[in-house]
Amino acid sequence: MLNGKVAMITGASSGIGAAAARLFAQEGAAVVLMARRREPLARIEEEIRTAGGRALAVPGDVTVPQDVERAVSMALDTFGTLDAAFNNAGFATAGTPLHEIDDEVYARTMDVNVRGVWNCLRHQIPVMLASGRGGSVVNTSSVAGVRATSASAAYIAAKHAVIGLTRAAAQDYGQRGIRVNALVVGSTRTEMMDELISRSPHLEERFRSHTLRGRIASAQEVAEAAAWLCSDRATFVTGIAMPVDGGRTAV
Ligand SMILES: NC(=O)c1ccc[n+]([C@@H]2O[C@H](COP(=O)([O-])OP(=O)(O)OC[C@H]3O[C@@H](n4cnc5c(N)ncnc54)[C@H](OP(=O)(O)O)[C@@H]3O)[C@@H](O)[C@H]2O)c1
Repeated sequence: MLNGKVAMITGASSGIGAAAARLFAQEGAAVVLMARRREPLARIEEEIRTAGGRALAVPGDVTVPQDVERAVSMALDTFGTLDAAFNNAGFATAGTPLHEIDDEVYARTMDVNVRGVWNCLRHQIPVMLASGRGGSVVNTSSVAGVRATSASAAYIAAKHAVIGLTRAAAQDYGQRGIRVNALVVGSTRTEMMDELISRSPHLEERFRSHTLRGRIASAQEVAEAAAWLCSDRATFVTGIAMPVDGGRTAV
C-alpha cells in the first residue's frame, strides 16, 4: 500500500507511532523515525532493518524547529524525497480542573501537541511542494479534539487546535497535491494510556464502556488508519478528522 514512498513518523519510539513505523515499513515505505528517546527509537529502527525494511532514526524534539528540520533533511539526504508524514508525537494531561492547571503544564501541552504539528507542517510541506510528487500528511488528534470531558482543558484545547491546523493546511495545499487529514483517536493501549490508568485505575473500565466495540484499541488499529490515509488509496480524502475510536463519537 505504501510501496516506494518515504514517510516521516513522529512519536515513533512507542505506542501508536512505533506501531505505525513497523506497519509503514511492512507496507513498503522507507521510514524516518523521530522522538526524543534514542534507545527505543534505535531499537525500532533496528527491528525494521532486520526484517528487511528501510528505516532511519533521527532523535529529536518536535517542539524544536531545528530538530524537525534535521529529520526532514535527513529524509531527503537518505531516501531522496518525502511523500508522507504521520505527525503523531503528543502527550496527554488530565485530572485537573482548568483553574488548577499550571501555566507551565498548559504551555507544555500546547507546545508538544500543537507547536509540534506546526513545526512539522512548516518543514514537510515545502519539501512536498518542491518534489512535484504531492504528499499526504496525517496529524494525530483525539476524541478530545472534538469532544470535551472534565478536567482536561489543556489537552482538549491542544487536540482541537490540531484539527484546526489540519483543516487550514488542507485548504492551503489541496490544489497543489498535498492532502492533510487528522485522526480522532479513541482510547488506545499504549504507554500514555498505561500511565493514565496507573494514576486513575477506574478510567480503564470507563474508556472500555464508552466505545461501541466494548474495548480499548490496539496501537496497530490506529496505525492502519494512518497508513491508509497516507496511501494512494485515499487520494480524494483531505481535510477530514477521521474517528478511529470504536464508535465513541457516534454515541
Ligand atoms: N493512547 C490513547 O488512548 C490516545 C488517545 C487519543 C489520542 N492519542 C494521541 O496519540 C498520539 C500518540 O500517543 P500514544 O498513545 O502512542 O502515546 P505514547 O506511547 O506515550 O507515545 C507518545 C510518543 O510521542 C513522543 N513524544 C512526546 N513528546 C515528544 C516531543 N516533544 N518530541 C518528539 N516526540 C515526542 C514520545 O517519544 P519520546 O518520549 O521518546 O519523545 C512517544 O514516542 C499522541 O498524539 C496522543 O495524544 C492517544
